Amino acid sequence: MAEELLIPVNADRKAVYNALFPQIKALIADESDLVANLSNITAALKEAFGFFWVGFYLVKEGQLVLGPFQGPIACTRIPFHKGVCGASYTRKETIIVPDVEAFPGHIACSSASKSEIVLPVFHRNGTVAMVLDVDSDIMNDFSEDDSEGLKQIIKLIEKKL
Ligand code: SME
Repeated sequence: MAEELLIPVNADRKAVYNALFPQIKALIADESDLVANLSNITAALKEAFGFFWVGFYLVKEGQLVLGPFQGPIACTRIPFHKGVCGASYTRKETIIVPDVEAFPGHIACSSASKSEIVLPVFHRNGTVAMVLDVDSDIMNDFSEDDSEGLKQIIKLIEKKL
Protein backbone atom coordinates (compact mmCIF):
# COMPACT_ATOMS: atom_id res chain seq x y z
CA MET A 1 0.00 0.00 0.00
CA ALA A 2 1.25 3.50 -0.86
CA GLU A 3 2.26 5.50 2.18
CA GLU A 4 0.99 8.80 0.94
CA LEU A 5 -1.38 10.29 -1.58
CA LEU A 6 -0.04 12.17 -4.56
CA ILE A 7 -2.27 15.18 -5.09
CA PRO A 8 -1.59 17.59 -7.98
CA VAL A 9 -1.05 21.15 -6.81
CA ASN A 10 -2.87 24.11 -8.36
CA ALA A 11 -5.10 21.70 -10.26
CA ASP A 12 -8.84 22.07 -10.70
CA ARG A 13 -11.13 19.74 -8.85
CA LYS A 14 -11.77 17.50 -11.83
CA ALA A 15 -8.03 16.93 -12.24
CA VAL A 16 -7.73 16.11 -8.54
CA TYR A 17 -10.55 13.54 -8.82
CA ASN A 18 -8.79 12.03 -11.85
CA ALA A 19 -5.52 11.77 -9.93
CA LEU A 20 -7.24 10.44 -6.82
CA PHE A 21 -9.34 7.72 -8.44
CA PRO A 22 -6.55 5.21 -9.30
CA GLN A 23 -4.99 5.79 -5.88
CA ILE A 24 -8.24 5.04 -4.05
CA LYS A 25 -8.76 2.04 -6.31
CA ALA A 26 -5.32 0.70 -5.34
CA LEU A 27 -5.85 1.59 -1.68
CA ILE A 28 -8.93 -0.60 -1.31
CA ALA A 29 -8.13 -3.28 -3.91
CA ASP A 30 -6.66 -5.86 -1.53
CA GLU A 31 -8.77 -5.07 1.51
CA SER A 32 -12.15 -6.71 2.06
CA ASP A 33 -13.11 -4.98 5.30
CA LEU A 34 -15.78 -2.35 4.64
CA VAL A 35 -15.02 -0.09 7.61
CA ALA A 36 -11.31 -0.07 6.79
CA ASN A 37 -12.02 0.91 3.19
CA LEU A 38 -14.63 3.56 4.02
CA SER A 39 -12.24 5.03 6.57
CA ASN A 40 -9.40 5.38 4.09
CA ILE A 41 -11.72 6.84 1.46
CA THR A 42 -12.90 9.58 3.83
CA ALA A 43 -9.29 10.32 4.79
CA ALA A 44 -8.23 10.49 1.12
CA LEU A 45 -11.09 12.87 0.22
CA LYS A 46 -10.41 15.08 3.23
CA GLU A 47 -6.70 15.24 2.44
CA ALA A 48 -7.13 15.82 -1.29
CA PHE A 49 -9.80 18.53 -1.12
CA GLY A 50 -9.71 19.85 2.45
CA PHE A 51 -13.47 19.45 2.74
CA PHE A 52 -14.96 20.52 6.08
CA TRP A 53 -16.58 17.12 6.70
CA VAL A 54 -16.59 13.86 4.75
CA GLY A 55 -18.35 10.74 5.96
CA PHE A 56 -20.65 7.82 5.45
CA TYR A 57 -24.03 7.17 7.06
CA LEU A 58 -24.83 3.47 6.94
CA VAL A 59 -28.33 2.01 6.67
CA LYS A 60 -28.79 0.19 9.97
CA GLU A 61 -31.75 -0.52 12.23
CA GLY A 62 -34.16 1.38 9.97
CA GLN A 63 -32.18 4.60 9.95
CA LEU A 64 -28.91 6.18 8.83
CA VAL A 65 -26.16 5.64 11.38
CA LEU A 66 -22.86 7.50 11.42
CA GLY A 67 -19.98 5.49 9.95
CA PRO A 68 -16.37 6.31 9.11
CA PHE A 69 -15.81 10.05 8.71
CA GLN A 70 -13.23 12.83 8.83
CA GLY A 71 -14.03 16.17 10.40
CA PRO A 72 -15.77 17.49 13.49
CA ILE A 73 -18.07 15.27 15.56
CA ALA A 74 -21.45 14.77 13.91
CA CYS A 75 -25.05 13.63 14.48
CA THR A 76 -25.03 9.87 14.98
CA ARG A 77 -28.49 8.88 13.74
CA ILE A 78 -30.61 10.34 10.94
CA PRO A 79 -34.19 9.15 10.22
CA PHE A 80 -34.83 8.23 6.57
CA HIS A 81 -37.19 11.18 6.14
CA LYS A 82 -34.85 13.82 7.57
CA GLY A 83 -32.14 16.09 6.21
CA VAL A 84 -30.23 15.98 2.98
CA CYS A 85 -28.95 12.49 3.83
CA GLY A 86 -32.50 11.22 4.33
CA ALA A 87 -33.61 12.85 1.06
CA SER A 88 -30.75 11.21 -0.85
CA TYR A 89 -31.62 7.84 0.72
CA THR A 90 -35.36 8.17 -0.02
CA ARG A 91 -35.05 9.57 -3.55
CA LYS A 92 -32.09 7.26 -4.33
CA GLU A 93 -30.30 10.14 -5.97
CA THR A 94 -27.41 12.55 -5.57
CA ILE A 95 -28.41 15.83 -3.99
CA ILE A 96 -26.33 18.99 -4.25
CA VAL A 97 -27.32 21.72 -1.81
CA PRO A 98 -25.68 25.07 -2.67
CA ASP A 99 -27.02 26.75 0.49
CA VAL A 100 -27.93 24.48 3.39
CA GLU A 101 -30.06 27.20 5.02
CA ALA A 102 -32.36 27.05 2.00
CA PHE A 103 -32.89 23.28 2.16
CA PRO A 104 -36.05 22.45 4.11
CA GLY A 105 -35.24 19.97 6.88
CA HIS A 106 -31.49 20.26 6.58
CA ILE A 107 -29.80 18.90 9.70
CA ALA A 108 -27.12 21.24 10.94
CA CYS A 109 -24.51 19.10 12.65
CA SER A 110 -22.30 22.19 12.52
CA SER A 111 -23.17 25.82 11.88
CA ALA A 112 -19.92 26.08 9.87
CA SER A 113 -21.36 23.88 7.12
CA LYS A 114 -22.65 26.04 4.25
CA SER A 115 -23.14 23.68 1.30
CA GLU A 116 -23.18 19.93 0.81
CA ILE A 117 -23.46 16.99 -1.55
CA VAL A 118 -24.92 13.62 -0.62
CA LEU A 119 -24.75 10.50 -2.81
CA PRO A 120 -26.39 7.11 -2.31
CA VAL A 121 -24.30 3.93 -2.39
CA PHE A 122 -26.21 0.93 -3.70
CA HIS A 123 -26.27 -2.78 -2.96
CA ARG A 124 -26.33 -5.04 -6.02
CA ASN A 125 -30.11 -5.49 -5.57
CA GLY A 126 -30.70 -1.74 -5.92
CA THR A 127 -31.37 -0.93 -2.27
CA VAL A 128 -29.35 1.84 -0.63
CA ALA A 129 -26.55 0.56 1.62
CA MET A 130 -25.27 3.93 2.81
CA VAL A 131 -24.89 7.56 1.78
CA LEU A 132 -21.72 9.58 1.33
CA ASP A 133 -22.07 13.08 2.76
CA VAL A 134 -19.54 15.82 1.97
CA ASP A 135 -19.92 19.22 3.64
CA SER A 136 -18.16 22.47 2.84
CA ASP A 137 -17.76 25.64 4.88
CA ILE A 138 -18.00 27.55 1.59
CA MET A 139 -21.35 28.37 0.01
CA ASN A 140 -22.13 26.73 -3.37
CA ASP A 141 -18.96 24.62 -3.30
CA PHE A 142 -20.20 21.55 -5.21
CA SER A 143 -20.87 20.95 -8.89
CA GLU A 144 -21.36 18.15 -11.40
CA ASP A 145 -17.58 17.61 -11.23
CA ASP A 146 -17.95 16.51 -7.60
CA SER A 147 -21.02 14.44 -8.42
CA GLU A 148 -19.11 12.63 -11.20
CA GLY A 149 -15.84 12.27 -9.28
CA LEU A 150 -17.53 10.95 -6.15
CA LYS A 151 -19.78 8.59 -8.15
CA GLN A 152 -16.71 6.90 -9.64
CA ILE A 153 -15.31 6.37 -6.15
CA ILE A 154 -18.67 5.03 -4.94
CA LYS A 155 -18.68 2.48 -7.76
CA LEU A 156 -15.47 1.05 -6.29
CA ILE A 157 -17.26 0.54 -2.95
CA GLU A 158 -20.37 -0.92 -4.59
CA LYS A 159 -18.28 -3.62 -6.26
CA LYS A 160 -17.21 -4.77 -2.82
CA LEU A 161 -20.65 -4.87 -1.17
N1 SME B 1 -26.36 17.87 6.99
C1 SME B 1 -26.74 16.49 6.93
C2 SME B 1 -26.53 15.80 8.24
C3 SME B 1 -25.19 15.20 8.41
S1 SME B 1 -24.01 16.24 8.84
O1 SME B 1 -23.97 17.47 8.10
C4 SME B 1 -22.52 15.57 9.03
C5 SME B 1 -28.19 16.36 6.50
O2 SME B 1 -28.91 17.35 6.45
O3 SME B 1 -28.60 15.25 6.22
